[in-house]
Amino acid sequence: MSKFFFGAGLSAHQCEGDNFSSDWWEFENTILKDKNIEASGKATNHWAMFEDDFKLAKELGHNSHRFSIEWAKVEPTQGQINYDVIDHYKKVFESLSKNKITPFVTLLHFTLPKWFADKGGFEKKQNIRHFLNYCKLIGSTFREEMKYIVTINEPNVYAYNSFLTKQWPPQKNNYLLHNKILRHLANTHRQAYEDLKAINPDFQIGIAKNNQVFRPDRKYNPLDHILSRMFHQQWNHGFLNKIRKHQDFIGLNYYFYRCVRADFKLADTFCQISYPTSRKTDMNWEVFPKGIYLLLKDLQKRYKKPIIITENGVADHSDDLREDIIKESLYWCFKAKDEGVDLFGYLHWSLTDNYEWDSGFSPRFGLIRVDYDENFSRTVRPSALVYRDLIIKYQKKLDKK
Ligand code: BGC
Repeated sequence: MSKFFFGAGLSAHQCEGDNFSSDWWEFENTILKDKNIEASGKATNHWAMFEDDFKLAKELGHNSHRFSIEWAKVEPTQGQINYDVIDHYKKVFESLSKNKITPFVTLLHFTLPKWFADKGGFEKKQNIRHFLNYCKLIGSTFREEMKYIVTINEPNVYAYNSFLTKQWPPQKNNYLLHNKILRHLANTHRQAYEDLKAINPDFQIGIAKNNQVFRPDRKYNPLDHILSRMFHQQWNHGFLNKIRKHQDFIGLNYYFYRCVRADFKLADTFCQISYPTSRKTDMNWEVFPKGIYLLLKDLQKRYKKPIIITENGVADHSDDLREDIIKESLYWCFKAKDEGVDLFGYLHWSLTDNYEWDSGFSPRFGLIRVDYDENFSRTVRPSALVYRDLIIKYQKKLDKK
């Protein structure tokens, strides 16, 4: 993989709007509504405005874009394919191609068709075939249009939020079930990999994996060390180990730096606290750009596969932090690359502001601002221009090599 991909990402549910037939639509309009959290509704109206968004991406120097194809829209009722939706995605591919932007296509980004969720979703082994059928449909329909495929976005985050912390649908809290989901998702990925390769052996297939830096809080406390090692193994490598023979590349989503302290007074979960540093995002997540370097080196050492950053970004509504984060993250990415990591792209999260799951619209992750009260109008944030200039700078360096 010689070309380096610079771009940004989005996911269908978070930007397209009107995802009526998904499990999230129902969840938002019942559970979240009771908590006074807004529903996704029209989201950013990307369904109607994708051409404008891709044009902006092009102007910002992006040569690639990550997006998801929404299963709940393609198959709103079991076995019934909505061909208007397929036609819509054809236009999406055409528009990307017109702008010379390479698509990175995600097949599952957290949301499920409601009919599938009602059947027990990935809790039941016999349900997996439904998702596999959908993968085959997308693989054969867009055989020529796409090359890079992410089967599943962040399996660990999905299993954790949906089956441990009750934060996301179906709001369960069952450790054994959580483990079962991860096993089923790993089986699903492996089979989807085989099926998609049978359709087109040139497809490059991976997952987008949320990995985190776990650091012992106290240098001389062995328990802190043991715990952070344990989290690192389980969270960062448990799933990847299960699919190591079935991935052409690894997609790394990097957001979190965790300080691990074995202090059982802190909380009954995982005893994690964060360092009290000055840089925090609007969601109070600690920012540690060097972490991307540490995780890249770790992934390269273990799996020796090409890696792409499939997500990295900050909720930063004032755009004060984003510029530095992009600068520093790219610095660390290219340092890792110079030291031999087979890194072939950086896709910032996200292209535009979007619907941040159970936090609603207030967290602003976009390189481009969306004005939800003014016809969804788009405004390029200053940090997006900084990213554009960095793309030019790094591209020049790459061209010289
Ligand atoms: C998800 C995105 C989300 C982002 C920020 C990732 O876990 O893939 O959908 O918007 O993090 O929370």
